[in-house]
Amino acid sequence: MNICVVGAGYVGLVTGVGLAELGHKVSCVDVDKKKIDKLKRGIVPFYERDLERLVRKNLEVKNISFTTDLEEGLKDSLFVFIAVGTPSRENGEADLSQIIQVTENMAAFMQDYKIIVIKSTVPADAFQLIRKILTKKKREGIDFDLVSNPEFLREGEAVYDFFHPTRIVIGVDEGKEEVAEKLAELFRPLNAPIIKTSIINAQMIKYASNVFLASRISFINEIANICEKVGADVEEIARGMSFDKRLGDGYLKPGIGFGGPCLIKDLKALIKIAETYGYEAQHLKSILAKNEHQVKHILLKVKKVLGDFLYGKTIGVLGLTFKPGTNDVRSSLALRIIDLLRKEGAQVKAYDPWGMEEAKLCLSDLNLCKDPYEVALGADMLLILTGWEEFKKIDFARIKKILKEPIIVDGVNLLDPEKMRALGFMYKGVGR
Ligand code: UGA
Repeated sequence: MNICVVGAGYVGLVTGVGLAELGHKVSCVDVDKKKIDKLKRGIVPFYERDLERLVRKNLEVKNISFTTDLEEGLKDSLFVFIAVGTPSRENGEADLSQIIQVTENMAAFMQDYKIIVIKSTVPADAFQLIRKILTKKKREGIDFDLVSNPEFLREGEAVYDFFHPTRIVIGVDEGKEEVAEKLAELFRPLNAPIIKTSIINAQMIKYASNVFLASRISFINEIANICEKVGADVEEIARGMSFDKRLGDGYLKPGIGFGGPCLIKDLKALIKIAETYGYEAQHLKSILAKNEHQVKHILLKVKKVLGDFLYGKTIGVLGLTFKPGTNDVRSSLALRIIDLLRKEGAQVKAYDPWGMEEAKLCLSDLNLCKDPYEVALGADMLLILTGWEEFKKIDFARIKKILKEPIIVDGVNLLDPEKMRALGFMYKGVGR
């Protein structure tokens, strides 16, 4: 099957490579010429585990190709997957400008019937807009069908998630069951449950799933903060809860809050969608407010150990990416916290195993160090903001000698409190 994927970000590229790996001929289109030039040479311009290996493998067997030319990509493709960004606008609404641009171009180039599959997370009325643009701008006599096929890939695990999906959700218009079935055929080798539903349901499944993950994180952070007051250990609480199958054990890791390009964006978008329909989503607003509050809570922890006046203090930060396993710093709460610390007059030195180049683009004057030891040297305390496994292997006895004060605030509960205290640190985690 010939397939065109528009948008070579982590969703589009993983989807394209995954489908190529399943034996299809995939043409990946992106407007970013530099990105496409790199991909043609087998270089993935961002880090995603296993992705580069699969890009190279499928380039070699000619199952995947890369182009900036949408017309070329569309030629001979029955399926067109749209996986361009839908970032948040200032007011929280999803910004559909990339979707609109692609739809207009596609309408101009479509030479035959296409099944247009929307991977990007968009509000349901975006489908009406896409349909309107296509109907208005396409050549006469050329038909299309629209499908919603939300993705549930996690950054850092996206390749694994593509091949082991928990479910495939396919939303189509009434009477278009055969179109849903055609798309289902593509994913059948993955042996996942396939949910065929309406377009609005498919979109709401995506929003509700991301928002529910966000709500679990805000919930456990709330419990963590209460645990600090009553002298309980939130890690034990989460473990104790997890034996109940109704509660499960996912997304109960307390920390600095949820960051990244998806959860915050989708939460804001759903609040806005509800508002447009005249409904105030109070619960969703409180999930977002809790996330904001958690950042302040971490700042307060720092102040508790260093004093309210941070001017002239040097804080060594470990971790810049929004989570481990990625070099992505988009909506990274680590960067938010650094920004707040610096606004209070603190000096920040930082290290991250993969995220330093990206962080530099956001905070150009950030003092970046070559390793955790350079971060600790002469700093008043150490602050951990991303849970990289490799931070566990740091020689903390050495860190203790070079820090001005042996203080660690562990914003992601990465380290063992007992071990740290035994080494002589004043150690503060979250909720324990
Ligand atoms: C999220 C969803 O997990 C994916 O299913 C979805 O496809 C994706 O958004 C998307 O819509 O594109 P992702 O943003 O890659 O994936 O990141 P997550 O692994 O879900 O983590 C999000 C944030 O929550 C991170 O800052 C992470 O550190 C934090 N988190 C996660 C916690 O604080 N505690 C937890 O227990 C889990």
